[in-house]
Amino acid sequence: MKKSRVKIGSLKNINLDNNICVKGWVRTKRQGKNVTFISLNDGSTINSLQVVLDMQKFKIELIEKINTGSSVEFSGNLIKSQGKIQNYELDATEFVLLGESDVGKYPIQPKKHSLEFLRDVAHLRPRTNTFSAIFRIRHAVIFSIHKFFNDKGFVNIHTPIITSSDTEGAGEMFRVTSLDLDNIKNNKVDFNKDFFSKEVNLTVSGQLNAELGALALSEVYTFGPTFRAENSNTSRHLAEFWMVEPEIAFYDIIDNMNLAEDILKYIISYVIKNCFDDLEFLQNREIDDEKNLPQIQRNEKPLIERLKKILNTAFERITYTEAFNILRNSKPNKKGKFKYKADEWGMDFQSEHERFLVEKHFKKPVIVIDYPKNIKAFYMRVNDDNSTVSAMDVLFPSVGEIIGGSQREERLSVLKERMNEMNLSEKDLNWYLDTRRFGTVVHSGFGLGLERLMQFITGMKNIRDVIPFPRTPGNCNY
Ligand code: 4AD
Ligand code: MG
Repeated sequence: MKKSRVKIGSLKNINLDNNICVKGWVRTKRQGKNVTFISLNDGSTINSLQVVLDMQKFKIELIEKINTGSSVEFSGNLIKSQGKIQNYELDATEFVLLGESDVGKYPIQPKKHSLEFLRDVAHLRPRTNTFSAIFRIRHAVIFSIHKFFNDKGFVNIHTPIITSSDTEGAGEMFRVTSLDLDNIKNNKVDFNKDFFSKEVNLTVSGQLNAELGALALSEVYTFGPTFRAENSNTSRHLAEFWMVEPEIAFYDIIDNMNLAEDILKYIISYVIKNCFDDLEFLQNREIDDEKNLPQIQRNEKPLIERLKKILNTAFERITYTEAFNILRNSKPNKKGKFKYKADEWGMDFQSEHERFLVEKHFKKPVIVIDYPKNIKAFYMRVNDDNSTVSAMDVLFPSVGEIIGGSQREERLSVLKERMNEMNLSEKDLNWYLDTRRFGTVVHSGFGLGLERLMQFITGMKNIRDVIPFPRTPGNCNY
């Protein structure tokens, strides 16, 4: 009879002295004279199961075939452990080697590897404690986002991945084509002959389509992959990342800020409640990693305390102009410590400025609103001063900008004027303008970068380590 498999993560709910069957991959093996200890993991928990093999019961040649990386099915009795770390272990009575692993060739040895090395074996890194913890947390974050919106009556809208519009107007898009690029005559591309009979790209944001949804269903959100061809090789940028974008009719910028603060707190509290073991593992890993760093480069507080602090803090809310004045009068600015000097109103904030505001000045998350209109997208609502727009960026410790959003320009004439100023074609966006022609309403929304949030929640310093298969300039493997 086929044995039913128990997940290692559910063993804590099973009574001792029960006969069970587990399957997984071997993390480590310690072969002794009388017993062999195997640490088995199936990805359901950070806590691997210790399997004890009595050498008298099994042929040594068979035991020798079990190596780090091999997959094995074990059956036996769940017994109280004599070790100090775990409460129970498996006293194996039978095993089947499901898949061998050549000990000399398996890239992930039972030792600590650098994150850089593991990026080069991203196809196998989910088998490490660090990455299995990160991907379980990523799942919990995604699930909590859907739950948050579902409980509030939002409708999830799938917005297109292939699009002919450039929402952010930054022109950092990946072209999608079915043309035979090797045979373009005279270097002239005739897009009429392309698949869609026009120029199309991978989307940088689902917002414009989400707005169509909001102006019919009132509360919607889109949650999908977005693509940016910006050549920034930083620890916070990916060419392919996931963004959750709520869009809400009848919301002004204050409602928008409240929603942003609520969802961030909700997700973090959900992860603390549901992924505590994984967070604890990542916290210890970070403490261990930082041991050799000078005090100034270490995190002031352990990971879980940093997360809990967010829950108990009201985010600071300030205008761009207030933020600019703080930066201009700041010590690092006066001492020339910023790479980009804060000296001219209208400048865009760099990550160093955002982090100064959050980490040094306010020591809590900061929401900056009312940015100069010249550095923001066409769809943001123009303020009465006619020089700023009702934009909103949420800035977080260690990652900087985690959310970008705004109240949208609902007045047709003002929106058209802005598009003109920015050389955007009215014809191409006629469908979008129709929402302002027919039954326009005040509305707002924002985009939350999933991987930036994941960086904050897991404490990972590089964004490449919080997405299973990172795409960055010069790197598109697996
Ligand atoms: O500020 P952004 O560009 O805003 C928009 O795209 C709006 N249309 C969203 C909206 O209002 N519906 O991007 C939103 C967020 C950023 O705050 C950041 O967290 C993340 O997306 N983000 C990136 N994450 C990883 N890699 C990149 N290259 C990113 N660019 C933006
Ligand atoms: Mg932004």
